[in-house]
Amino acid sequence: MTIEDKKFKTIKVEREDGITWLYFNRPEKRNAMNPTLHREMWDALVELEQDPETKVLVLTGAGDKSWCAGQDIRETFRDRIRERENNPGARREPGGPRYDWSWGLLSTFAAPTIAMVNGYCFGGAFPALIACDFAIAAEDAIFGLSEVNWGILPGGVIPRVVRDVMRYRDALYYVMTGDPFDGKKAAEMGLVNRAVPREILREETVKLARHLMEKNPHVLLGAKEAFKVSQDMNYAQARAYVGVRERAMIATDPEKGREKGMSQFLDEKSFRPGFGAYRRE
Ligand code: COA
Repeated sequence: MTIEDKKFKTIKVEREDGITWLYFNRPEKRNAMNPTLHREMWDALVELEQDPETKVLVLTGAGDKSWCAGQDIRETFRDRIRERENNPGARREPGGPRYDWSWGLLSTFAAPTIAMVNGYCFGGAFPALIACDFAIAAEDAIFGLSEVNWGILPGGVIPRVVRDVMRYRDALYYVMTGDPFDGKKAAEMGLVNRAVPREILREETVKLARHLMEKNPHVLLGAKEAFKVSQDMNYAQARAYVGVRERAMIATDPEKGREKGMSQFLDEKSFRPGFGAYRRE
């Protein structure tokens, strides 16, 4: 049985030409994340990480209105909050801190990941957005850390991770006002790489995915891990870790990219590393 045949209720998976499209799929609820969605995302990501057809993963929202409207205020919060407070074991529930598919799985996913933000992106959706290696938004997508508007804090890892991608003043401004902003503003602040007109959002996403697919996937994973893991280290630790990570990567690279690249540049003189990837068979 392929992953497309699985009977997911709240997500959808489509695979085409190396790109796996993973959808938040509750358009009637603006793709808000309920416990079932958290569980299904976890299961799908665990499976997709082993899938050789998934060269690039794109996370997007079903329908034309919303990427993800954050946590489901009814199902994830109102129906469960008391239960969680009184039961430490519930920390391992879908949506709880020990069941965190976005920061726990997606941010370290083996293949490159792109958030294609096709509409609303609120509150609890921010960790998934920032966990993706790249983000492209529709210019008219609407973002917001809306938590303060309804009486809670941007929770979990949100206050920590918004500072990974936004400047201090911008991050604190939106954490404390809860004001919405559009895709253009998100790009200006560095929350997404680019904002493009909605009509070309998918095309631009596919273009980026194909660009990534030209490169050695083993090396891309090494580069992503070296970047992400070293952020929390001091300089000496980072230097040591990155050195070890690179040696491990070179030693285990199934396509021996380093030798190939050097030989194509130095011996064959058939490519310029400064302008693009070496030729892969
Ligand atoms: N949790 C639960 N339900 C949600 C939801 C959420 N985060 N976001 C939207 N929905 C539901 C609505 O309750 C409504 O359900 P109903 O049809 O059963 O009444 C449906 O989705 C459509 O929402 P509606 O508000 O009518 O759509 P809209 O297009 O006018 O507005 C939003 C869309 C996203 C701007 C608005 O729904 C909203 O502000 N949602 C909350 C966003 C938020 O603050 N998320 C942070 C949570 S951490």
